[in-house]
Order: sequence, then structure tokens, then C-alpha cells
Amino acid sequence: MKAVAWHGRRDVRVDEVPDPKIEEPTDAIVRITTTALCGSDLHLYEVLGPFIREGMILGHEPMGIVEEVGSAVTNLKPGDRVVMPFQISCGTCFMCDQGLQTQCETTQTREEGRGAMLFGYTRLYGDKDGGQAEYLRVPQAQYTHIKVPEGPPDERFVYLSDVLPTAWQAVEYASVPDGGSVCILGLGPIGDMSARIAMHKGYRVIGVDLVDERLQRVSERGAETVDLREVDDVGEAVRELTDGRGTDAVIDAVGMEAHGSPGAAIAHRMVGLLPDFLGEQVMNKAGIDKLNAVYTAIDVVRRGGTISLSGVYGGMADPLPLLTMFDKQIQFRMGQANVKHWVDELMPLVLDDADPLGVENFHTHAVPLDEAPQAYETFQKKRDGAIKYLFKP
Ligand SMILES: NC(=O)c1ccc[n+]([C@@H]2O[C@H](COP(=O)([O-])OP(=O)(O)OC[C@H]3O[C@@H](n4cnc5c(N)ncnc54)[C@H](O)[C@@H]3O)[C@@H](O)[C@H]2O)c1
Ligand SMILES: [Zn+2]
Ligand SMILES: [Zn+2]
Repeated sequence: MKAVAWHGRRDVRVDEVPDPKIEEPTDAIVRITTTALCGSDLHLYEVLGPFIREGMILGHEPMGIVEEVGSAVTNLKPGDRVVMPFQISCGTCFMCDQGLQTQCETTQTREEGRGAMLFGYTRLYGDKDGGQAEYLRVPQAQYTHIKVPEGPPDERFVYLSDVLPTAWQAVEYASVPDGGSVCILGLGPIGDMSARIAMHKGYRVIGVDLVDERLQRVSERGAETVDLREVDDVGEAVRELTDGRGTDAVIDAVGMEAHGSPGAAIAHRMVGLLPDFLGEQVMNKAGIDKLNAVYTAIDVVRRGGTISLSGVYGGMADPLPLLTMFDKQIQFRMGQANVKHWVDELMPLVLDDADPLGVENFHTHAVPLDEAPQAYETFQKKRDGAIKYLFKP
């Protein structure tokens, strides 16, 4: 089959690889019909190289049709239409019972000290091949699936894999008071969808980014925006809009590809150039994260407010302004989205033909799998109006 495989920094290729097979009784094989490209894939493309095996199949936002199931999977059958959550979880352990599927104790990568196994996301998260491919082996398939009905197009459902639950959790974790305000840093797919959900819940949204079409998309749907290129100080700009206080909550939907701290950009590049064993040490110990967005969040949030981190960060020694965080009495919540935990709340919204969150036209590009290498580059460089790519294997 064809699959998008990682070969090096900024080097992904469409390889011909063996079809996946059932390996465990709890597996299923799914034929992929639509699979998306995510901002998290850009971290693999750019900086997480030391943790990836060459040839690993990328992608964690897939949906398709069940081809085959293992003997222990009794709630799925060939022909079922399913979306796969980006994390692999069992549904019966202590953590899954708490609704913390990203901490699933059955699939945790214990040797790396990490949470649940993820599709296509380095050896830190189980070294499992991902879903930018014609077929995908789904472990723990009895629970790692979301059944969706026939009828509406894939575009309506595919974001249940990641974008929708991540944005939903980002807004939940932001704990915005009724009628309150939230500043959303970064208006890529996650920030954009968080803005849609926050507005759907009646909150005032101030979105921040530095790319025209991303700012435009959220302002067209009713959010206020701050263009990073036009202000010296985002904190000041947001305080001016909020009686000098800052917003009740801030969602960081930027993560470690932030623009705006040149020192860190250099560190990022250095890690990419080091031999793997050294790069890994630098990444783990030296704290090379681009923390620009986190610092901005700490500045923007009002005293006693909440910061919800959905952007992914990777370092271990990142300097944080603890005095300010303590003095402002900031609450922090963060983590990978617990996909299955939010499905019941999201499903009515995607099934609604009025499409309240605008998922059907959320993508800006839909291309064959063969065009993946070009798509990664265009998405990373934010060219050609690219905000969300879908691949059609
Ligand atoms: N927590 C989760 O489960 C989860 C799931 C999916 C994605 N993510 C993470 O969420 C983040 C966003 O994902 P995405 O798909 O939207 O990616 P993206 O790269 O398309 O979006 C990031 C956006 O941030 C903007 N930006 C960069 N620097 C900024 C700054 N200093 N201030 C404000 N905006 C800035 C960029 O222009 C871009 O629009 C990534 O870090 C991704 O890994 C987390
Ligand atoms: Zn994703
Ligand atoms: Zn579990």
C-alpha cells in the first residue's frame, strides 16, 4: 500500500510498504478514506526527529471503512464507517474510567514514561505507524473507534479524530465564566475550531495570529482579532479591549512552533542538526521550547484567570515566570485531548445538517496521498492559504 513515511527533517515521502495485518485479537484493519494533516505533524517534520524511526508512517487523524477485525473485537464488523481517535486506548482501565484516555494504562509507553500510545507519533508514544496511508492497523479497536453513520461526507466526521475534541477540551479547560472572554493564541485548525466552539458557547473571543487568512477566518465568524504583526505587545492590546484587565481565560493553540523568539529558533535548528543521541539530550534537558506563546498567555490572562494549553511543548527545563504566575493567581490546565471523553457532546453538532461549527468546509485543501510531501511543505510555510489539508488515499 501507499503510505506517508518520515525520512528526515522536512523529508516525508510516499512509500510503497506492506499492507498492515491483524496482529492481536483486539486489532482491526481500516481502509482509510480521509486522513488529515495536523499542526502536531509539523513538530515531527521539524524538531522531533531524534525520536522517530526512519520509515515511520505519519498521521493520526484518519477515518475509513473497517476491512477486518480480530477475534476479540465484537462491536465492529467489516463495512462499518469509523473515525479513529488520535490516541489508542482500551476503555476499561483506571484512567479510561476517569475519562483520561490519553493516560490509558493499557497502552502507556512505560519504557519512555509517557501516556497512551498515539498513532504516528514517535517512539515516545509507542512507535505505532499512523494513518496517512491506504490502510491502518488499529490496536484496542474495540474502543479505539468512533462509529459514524452513512450519509454525510467524510468532511463532517474526520475532525472527531483530533481537531474537535482538542478544541472542545481546550475550551472546557479554559473554564470561561458564563458570558466571559477568552483570548485564543494561534488560529491554526485548533485555535480556529476553539474560537468556533467558544463562540457557540456564548463567550467573547479575541483571536491572535500573524497570518492574514487565519485572522480573517475567525473574524468572519464573529471573533475580534489582534494581528501579531501590528502590535508590539499583545498583552497591552488585549488589556485595552478588556477594561485593562485581560481576558478571563487564554487558550494557547500555538505550541512549540511559535514565532517570535529568535534565540529559541536557533536552538530548535541546532537540535535538528545534532546527531540523534545528542539531539535527544538537548531536547529533553536543555528546554529548547519556543515559549513565546506561553509567556504571552501568562501576560494576557486576567488575575485569577485560567490558561488552557493545547499547544504541544517538548522541553524539560523551560524557564517560567513563577513569581508572576503565583502573584496573578493563574490556573493552568493542559494535555492531549481525551478524544472519546468528548464524543457524546460533539456528535450532535456534527450530525446537525445546519453544521453549527462549519466542519464541512473547514478544510482548505483536499488532495491525493501522493501530494503529501508538497502538502507538508505548503502547510508548514503557510502558503497558498493552507489551513487544513485532507488527504484522500
Ligand atoms: N493537545 C492536543 O491534544 C493537541 C491536538 C492537536 C494539536 N495540538 C497542538 O496544537 C497546536 C496548534 O495546532 P494546529 O494544527 O492549529 O497548528 P498550526 O501550526 O497550524 O497553528 C499554529 C498557529 O499559531 C500561529 N502562531 C505562531 N506563533 C504565534 C504567536 N507567538 N502568537 C500567536 N499565534 C502564533 C501560527 O501562525 C499558526 O496559525 C500545535 O502545537 C499542535 O501540536 C495539540
Ligand atoms: Zn492532530
Ligand atoms: Zn485504558
